[in-house]
Amino acid sequence: MGVRMLLSLCCALLLSGQLPAGAAEYPSKVVTVVVPFSAGGPSDTIARLLAQTMSGSLKTQLIVENVAGAGGTIGAARVATSPPDGYTLFVHHIGHATAPALYRKLTYHPITDFEPIGLINDGAMTLIARKDFPAKSLKELIAHVKANKDKVNLANAGVGSASHLAGLLFMAEIGTDLTTIPYKGTGPAMNDLLGGQVDFMIDQTTNTTSHIKAGKVQVYSVTTPQRLPSLPEVPTMDEAGLPNYRMTVWHALYAPKGTPKPIIDKLTAALQAALKDANLKQRYAELGAEAVAQERATPEALRGHLKAEIEKWGPIIKNAGVYAD
Ligand code: MLT
Repeated sequence: MGVRMLLSLCCALLLSGQLPAGAAEYPSKVVTVVVPFSAGGPSDTIARLLAQTMSGSLKTQLIVENVAGAGGTIGAARVATSPPDGYTLFVHHIGHATAPALYRKLTYHPITDFEPIGLINDGAMTLIARKDFPAKSLKELIAHVKANKDKVNLANAGVGSASHLAGLLFMAEIGTDLTTIPYKGTGPAMNDLLGGQVDFMIDQTTNTTSHIKAGKVQVYSVTTPQRLPSLPEVPTMDEAGLPNYRMTVWHALYAPKGTPKPIIDKLTAALQAALKDANLKQRYAELGAEAVAQERATPEALRGHLKAEIEKWGPIIKNAGVYAD
């Protein structure tokens, strides 16, 4: 094939969108992974381990940038308007699905403004309290907060965060409204819990396991139907006395809408390779977070899951009458 013919073939492919500019040599520089919560929290931990592992197979550095606030919607809005060139990625959790029902002035839509890449993990939550909180069991905690509802406070990572949703579910189950204290992530909320400034929180095991093991917080229950291998002594909500309470948190990887398919394909392959990595799997498991099976780490699986979660949570949130501006 002559040079002229080759050039015109490349031009034709570029114009037809099959070989978008930059896609063939992608990635050729540092990739930023936006996490919409503060450093040190569960989403940050999940994303940092993933970014580190994907850096290996993509042969470029993936760095995490924390764009925290408003339950993850500030970071999501930033990514929605970032260039769709594969150099800005996004790790968010279940809160990406609940944002449209919770936020009345959302500037983006989780489906139409993002390219799904794949699910990352499913994770449990734990109900924990400051070390000197008077209750010694879940039943005692429920009795105590009901009797002291104007004094007790419940921390969360902002409207739409997993800890906020978990708290809503808890208050609905025990039939008592409590004062809630929103933070920009459960990383800073945990600091205040450790310091005794807030009373209790329902947070992902990725954030709580090390503090539970070190005896720095009191733990009452896990939110999964089964006990966790990483915290075998901690009862389920069912065992501890709140049988209808179930909550797990999933994280997923996205790119801005319009990111070329060849780039999404490379990122999907790198995500799948990372989730097979023995070190990553072990680190996630130690934190009570399970890396998803390969068939869930795909754009199709994430697209379907996101849609189903939006449909599931929308009515629950509307019925609870909770929203933010
Ligand atoms: C965080 O990283 O702070 C959490 O994922 C926040 C949450 O949703 O509870």
